[in-house]
Formats: sequence, structure tokens, C-alpha cells
Amino acid sequence: MTNAKDILVIGGDGFCGWPTALHLSNLGHNVTIVDNLSRRDIDAQMGADSLTPIASMDDRIAAWAEQTGRTIGFENIDVARDYDALCKLMLATQPDTVIHFGEQRAAPYSMKGASEKRYTVDNNISGTHNLLAASVELGLDPHFVHLGTMGVYGYDDDGLEIPEGYLPVYIPADDKQIIKRDILYPTNPGSVYHMTKSMDQLLFQFYAKNDRMRITDLHQGIVWGTQTEETRLDERLINRFDYDGDYGTVLNRFLMQAVVGHPLTVHGTGGQTRAFIHIQDTVKCLALAVENPPARDGKVAILNQMTETHTVRSLAKLVAETSGAQIANVDNPRNEAAENDLRVSNKTFLSLGLKPITLAEGLMDETQQIAAKYAKRCIRKMIPCVSTWTDNQRPGVVPAKASKAA
Ligand SMILES: NC(=O)c1ccc[n+]([C@@H]2O[C@H](COP(=O)([O-])OP(=O)(O)OC[C@H]3O[C@@H](n4cnc5c(N)ncnc54)[C@H](O)[C@@H]3O)[C@@H](O)[C@H]2O)c1
Repeated sequence: MTNAKDILVIGGDGFCGWPTALHLSNLGHNVTIVDNLSRRDIDAQMGADSLTPIASMDDRIAAWAEQTGRTIGFENIDVARDYDALCKLMLATQPDTVIHFGEQRAAPYSMKGASEKRYTVDNNISGTHNLLAASVELGLDPHFVHLGTMGVYGYDDDGLEIPEGYLPVYIPADDKQIIKRDILYPTNPGSVYHMTKSMDQLLFQFYAKNDRMRITDLHQGIVWGTQTEETRLDERLINRFDYDGDYGTVLNRFLMQAVVGHPLTVHGTGGQTRAFIHIQDTVKCLALAVENPPARDGKVAILNQMTETHTVRSLAKLVAETSGAQIANVDNPRNEAAENDLRVSNKTFLSLGLKPITLAEGLMDETQQIAAKYAKRCIRKMIPCVSTWTDNQRPGVVPAKASKAA
């Protein structure tokens, strides 16, 4: 490959980071994964586990070398807390690109209690800022690619197609002229996790303006599926499959619930519309982002990384029709609108050549086959969502009636 880049993949042991690291390595890039394995630790603390058996990082990397002859590096560094080790690595590798997946990414986990809220804020904000500060302090000039979320826009049904990150606003000035500004689309986070992604956006805005860093922020939809072309090569390369109430994403949860004979757990009416993307398209989008760094113009490039929208209830219906599963409407543990519409622009990735994989293309079968293969590993008690957004939503809690003063 003529245009091989040196790439750091922060969070490269995770659901999106691992298949991305493999894909970029397959394309001929020199990939080093940085991960503190905190996701595996959180599973151990919660008594949960990936439905698929994920190999140790050493075994994953050895399997990749056996299958392809390619080497992927690995460094166990906590990017939020071990700044010196991070700087040492960045100086040694002089990355052309830093891809940042390394955050606590479950909204329900971030709402469990004060300890999880504080961890999510400390980990996500410090990690992001350390990576930006180190790039500047060390005089490096990497293209910084971050995984953000569609959730920063909120789900308020604004009656317009959500643009790619910016909203043109027209402000009446003192001299009766109208000034046009492109402002960050007003954030409306629905959890502490989403709030950290909204705060990340301000860090990027500052570093792009002040230090002329080239930054791409990918506002990703909910990822479904498990396997990619690369993770299918060997069972030791298999991707993780989260199904528990905190980390499992909705469509994957439905697909595995159908397989293990659990009713499909729809929150409330299931009228929430969300944006989706298959994991194979995630890795393709990352490769396109790496190949297309933005201009050094002081502005963050924000791309919506999603391919289709669906309501939760329509997904449940689709899975129920093909599998015969029952649907159970359960109390919504979240604090969100019961119903919303969602229209999203994803024109940049389409213009870069992305050919979206949709639900209609048979990959739901593959995900269900994987779920069936590993169904015996399912820990059923981990399926329900038990993290609630407010104390009053906890089962058995009587809502507070009166304030002290009353
Ligand atoms: N999975 C989705 O549906 C989805 C949707 C939208 C956006 N995203 C974003 O994509 C990114 C990756 O998501 P994922 O599903 O792969 O999550 P994941 O939890 O599977 O992976 C994150 C990885 O980062 C590592 N990590 C966390 N904090 C770290 C730290 N301080 N230092 C080093 N490593 C650290 C974890 O150990 C884990 O391996 C996240 O930022 C997430 O917000 C994911």
C-alpha cells in the first residue's frame, strides 16, 4: 500500500474498535491498539459477559498475524489517567491518525448511580482532552477521528432533517444587518454518557480553532451486527456481542432474545425512532474518514455515521415476525419522549462512496445464527434493563410527595 498510515486506535479492544483495527490493518495501515481493557473489567464487575467468547488481546493479535501475516501493536494504557505513558507512546509512534473509541459508552451504565456518572465524566472528558493536549504539546499533527453519537442532537423531533453537526443561524445585528453563523447544532443529551459526547464537541471546537488541529467527529447511530469480513476469518477474531441491559444495543438484544426464547423487551410504546448502522459499515466509514482528513480551516468536520432510521417497535415487529418471538412492552427506564420522528442527513459518507448495508440485506440472519451458536453462554438475569434515569423510576420506590419545606 503506497499510502500506509501509522494509526493509533484508542479503545481498539471494544465492539467498534476491534473490527476497525482489523479492517485498517487489512488495508495496509500500521495499527497500534491502545486500550486499558476497562470494558472487560466492567463486565466482570457487573457479572455480565459478551455472548460471543472474546479471546485475550494477545490471542486476538496472534490469530490476526497467523491469518494475514500482519502485525497489530497493543499498549495497555488508560488514556484518561496515564498521560505520561500516552505521551511516550505518541512520541514513539508519531501517528498520522488517532482514532478515539476509548470512552465509557453505555447510557444506562452512566445513569446507574453517582459513582458511574462520575466515572463516565472523568474517563470520557479526561481521555479526550489528554489525547488533544498531548498532540499539541508534543508538536505532533495527527488527524484526530472521534466516535461521537447521534444522541448529542437529542430526539426532540425538530421537524427538520438533522444536518451534519452545524446549524445556520441568522442573528439581527445592531446595524440592522443580519449576520449568519454556523453554530454547533444545539445539543440535547439524554444521559450522562450523551452529555460527555456533547462536551467532547466543545473540546474539539477549541482545538480546531486554537491549534488548527484537523478533527473529524463522527456522530454515529446505534450499531448492530457482530461480524465483519475480517472478524469472520477465525473464531479467535470474533467481535464482542453485548446483550445485557446496560451495554446491549437494541437490535442485537432483540435478535438474541428471540433466539433464547425471551420476550422482546420494548420500552414503553416503542415509538422512539433511532438511527442505525451495521458494524461492517462502521469499519468502512472509519476507513473513509481516515482517507479524507478535513482541511485545516479551524472547523471540526462533523459527519453523521448512520444508514437508516427505525422505531424500536417496528424493529421488534420485524424480529417477532421472522422468529415467532413474543413482544413485551415494559416500563421505560429512560427519561425520554415516548414517540419521536427522526430525519438525518448522511450525505458526506454517501458522497465518499458508502453503499449502506440495510436491515433488508440478510445480515439479521447472520447475527441470529451467531446468537444461536452461543446461546448457552447467555446469562438470562442480565437481560432486563435495571438502570433507571431517576430514583422515582426504581421498582418499589414511592415517588417523593412533598419537599421538606412543605
Ligand atoms: N456501540 C454503539 O452502538 C455506538 C453507537 C454510537 C457511538 N458509539 C461510540 O463508539 C465508541 C466505541 O463504542 P463501542 O461500542 O466499541 O464501546 P466498547 O465499550 O465496546 O469499547 C470501548 C473501548 O474503549 C476502552 N476504554 C474505555 N476507556 C478507556 C480509557 N480511559 N483508556 C483506554 N481505553 C479505554 C474500553 O476498554 C473498550 O475496549 C464509543 O465512544 C461510543 O460512544 C458506539
